[in-house]
Order: sequence, then C-alpha cells, then structure tokens
Amino acid sequence: MMRHVTIEQGRMEIILAPDAASACCEAAARIAAHVRATPEPVLGLATGRTMEAIYRALVGLHRDEGLSFARCRTFNLDEYHPIAPDDPRSYHAYMRAALFRHVDIAPERTRLPDGAAADPAGECRAYEEAIRAAGGIGLQLLGIGLTGHIGFNEPPSDFASRTRLVELDETTRRQNADLFDNRWQNVPRQALTMGVGTIMEARRLLLVATGAAKARIVRDALEGPVTPMVSASALRLHPACTVVLDPEAAELLDLA
Ligand code: F6R
Repeated sequence: MMRHVTIEQGRMEIILAPDAASACCEAAARIAAHVRATPEPVLGLATGRTMEAIYRALVGLHRDEGLSFARCRTFNLDEYHPIAPDDPRSYHAYMRAALFRHVDIAPERTRLPDGAAADPAGECRAYEEAIRAAGGIGLQLLGIGLTGHIGFNEPPSDFASRTRLVELDETTRRQNADLFDNRWQNVPRQALTMGVGTIMEARRLLLVATGAAKARIVRDALEGPVTPMVSASALRLHPACTVVLDPEAAELLDLA
C-alpha cells in the first residue's frame, strides 16, 4: 500500500512507499506523467545508486509503453572535476549507460556540466544560460547524500548558490568510491554542480531516498532546522516538492 502524507503546510508531499522498488517505480511514473503531459519537457536529472532503478523503470516504460523522450531536453545536476566526458567513471558515461542510449533522445538534447572544461567558471555560467534558454527546468529529480547534499551542494551551501565549482566532502568521496577502485582518495576532490538556488528554480522537485543509511539525513532534512548546513532542508521552502521514501529511509521521521 502506498501511503501519502503531506507535511509543511501542504507544501511538501511525502510519499511513503512499501519498499525501495515501489519508491523508484513511483518516481519513474511521475517523471513519465510529466513527460507525457508537457509539450517540451525540460528534465533535471541526477546520478547515483538510487537513480539506477528509476532509470531502469523509465527504459522499461519506453520499451513497453512507448514513452518517448524525443521532445525532452535534459540537464544533469553535476559532474566530477576534472574528468573527461568519455571517462567511464564520469556522470556523462553513467547517463549514457543508464538512460540515454536506451531511449529516443538525441545526444545534443542532453547536457551535463563539462568536467573537463578549461574554464570551469565560464562553463558554469554557460550552463546556467543554457537552462534559462531552454525555458527553465520543469521537473528536477534529486537524490540526497549522507552530508545532506542535493546535487553536490555540500554543507554549507548558500540557498542562493548557482552552478559552480565545489570541493567534495570526504564523506561524499567515501560514499562514491565504488567507481574509483573502492579507494576514496581516487575520487576527484571537486565537482561542478547546479547550486541550491538553481535547483530551487525548477518548477517541480522530486527527491527520492531509499535505504537505512539515509534515515538520519532524511530526518535532518525534513524535520530538522532549515539551514545551509543541510542543503536538502531548502526543499521545504519550495512550492512543489515531492519526496518519495522507502520504509528504511523514512524510519526516523516523526510522521512515519
Ligand atoms: C548525483 C547527485 C547526488 C546523489 C546523492 C545520492 O547526481 O546529485 O546528490 O543524488 O549523492 O547518491 P546515491 O543515490 O548514490 O546514494
């Protein structure tokens, strides 16, 4: 049974799913509904382990139900720096493998920050400009890191921050070591990420968190103070944010 709970003065919708698989299917169904209902969808996409099942579900909807991505434009949240787009450990490679090469989206309609840009500040400005030129992001998919980051907005991240070069927390580098020979020291120290302010401008937000490891930070983000020390707490200020959780990730919430 899917349980819908709404908190924060009706602003944030929290969906408690019966397990991680249904949480990811629910997220995919919402993305699919947005794509079907919108003439020119602009999707904000995320990477990481949580998203893998969501992209598998979207690929399934494309294959079995004809969900078309041809009209979409996509902007990913972040990319390591420095890393080349064709490096198999890059988020460019992740997105090609998880989604882009399985669906009907032209490569030129997909964009991630260029982790190999010679001028990172210029690349970040151009990224913001490209999002604006596309009409802004209609639906932004988000995961949450153990530091409370959305995108790679490590604490403290100003809620007005824009796309920029950031230093990654050691916690995040440890969290993401699997693609780097399981040696966290090999994970790049920096990344290009949309800012909290950039993310907050998306018209709808969809955060997905699964697994017991996320329980503490989910509680901090949804029920602790709204503070730049927990970037995801900013989501409570957004007028249209949905959070999908499995029972493990929701375990420490008062409402669960
Ligand atoms: C990735 C990103 C990050 C991840 C977060 C959770 O593009 O923006 O915020 O969503 O680190 O990662 P997983 O799902 O691997 O726990």
